[in-house]
Amino acid sequence: MRPHERDRGGTPAGVRGPRDDMNPRLELLHAYPFERLARLKAGVTPPQGLVHIAMSIGEPQHAPPDFVVETLRRSLDRLGSYPATAGLPELRAACAGWLQRRFKLPPGTMNPETMVLPVNGTREALFAFVQATVDSSRNASVLMPNPFYQIYEGAALLAGAEPFFLDTTAATGYVPDLEAVPESVWRRCQVLFLCSPGNPTGAVLPLAYLQQVLELADRYDFVIAADECYTELYLDERSPSPGLLQACIASGRHAFERCLVFHSLSKRSSVPGLRSGFVAGDARLIARFLLYRTYHGSAMAIPTQLASIAAWNEDSHAAHNRRLYQQKFDQVLPILADVLEVRKPSGGFYLWPDVHGDDERFVRELFMTQNITVLPGSYLARPAASGRDNPGAGRVRISLVPSVDLCVEAARRMREFIVNR
Ligand SMILES: Cc1ncc(COP(=O)(O)O)c(C=O)c1O
Repeated sequence: MRPHERDRGGTPAGVRGPRDDMNPRLELLHAYPFERLARLKAGVTPPQGLVHIAMSIGEPQHAPPDFVVETLRRSLDRLGSYPATAGLPELRAACAGWLQRRFKLPPGTMNPETMVLPVNGTREALFAFVQATVDSSRNASVLMPNPFYQIYEGAALLAGAEPFFLDTTAATGYVPDLEAVPESVWRRCQVLFLCSPGNPTGAVLPLAYLQQVLELADRYDFVIAADECYTELYLDERSPSPGLLQACIASGRHAFERCLVFHSLSKRSSVPGLRSGFVAGDARLIARFLLYRTYHGSAMAIPTQLASIAAWNEDSHAAHNRRLYQQKFDQVLPILADVLEVRKPSGGFYLWPDVHGDDERFVRELFMTQNITVLPGSYLARPAASGRDNPGAGRVRISLVPSVDLCVEAARRMREFIVNR
């Protein structure tokens, strides 16, 4: 695809702008899905009598926990000093402690001094890690699920690597099909992104699958970047979703070689504005990433660190959040079940239904008639390398982030919309 054929943000094709002499790789970036959504909705007037229900953005809306907010407030006098990029030892210990509890890691396997690094949300870390890792002089490829979280692709493009998309469709059981990757691509692979539970599919990667990926990482010498920011939002209390570090332990890989996991408080604790997460895993990768981040200048403010320690050390508020999402799935799905092809995911807070037709049209008309905003699935995916169709086309992503009552109200309106189409 030539650059002018892409749907991009910024200066229109043919118009010279001030960024023409900047990094030419910026031209490769696609318009962000929400920019495209704003264009899709432009000029449409929704019915005024119905309150707007926003279900396009994955922004948790449950109240942030009081004790986290209070800790932040009480720590504001700590703004007088520069934070260290490696963070406070207490924060790294809290992150390691949570990993050990959540993934049942054997005591002592997760060293908070060498294997954990705080980040300002997983978004910046997913992006930055690729910049620090990719060697673009070696014809690099970065592999990712498709549909996917847009940062993976932007990170690969700006680092000078070629993104390679692994479709996650009903046909693949919503997990990336490892068998479909040609040998020549594995040989160029430097980073493989995984996302479990997946956005937008909600699919969880089983332990055996993760172990298979570990073998591939050894065979072809690449890094696995496992985005596990939805890991606390599993929908069956009896089986929390497994994580990559757990797979490492199960495979006897106690140094977590070639593995990094990305975790966040945004979804777990409903504090997306705190900008707090961490990466953990292979100490060699963490050391190099710390060096990169020291120069990049991405240390976390100390009050944010102290609030984060409180959040990682406490599990019951995350369980409460999880129960609220479970309630939403339990109440919304029966309303839609006989009018929409929709399934309960294994984790996360998204529905990913097949709307049997043009997803953009569905989104526009739903907004026009019911004042509900959801996201066209085609905005979250790309046509695969083989030239196959966009695997997000014909689906929409519905974020169950509003209150339980509003989600139920939205489901009723959606039902009416579908029945009367
Ligand atoms: C799959 C995925 N990864 C990462 C993020 C970024 O989350 P944060 O930067 O708030 O940790 C999001 C946010 O929606 C996401 O959906």
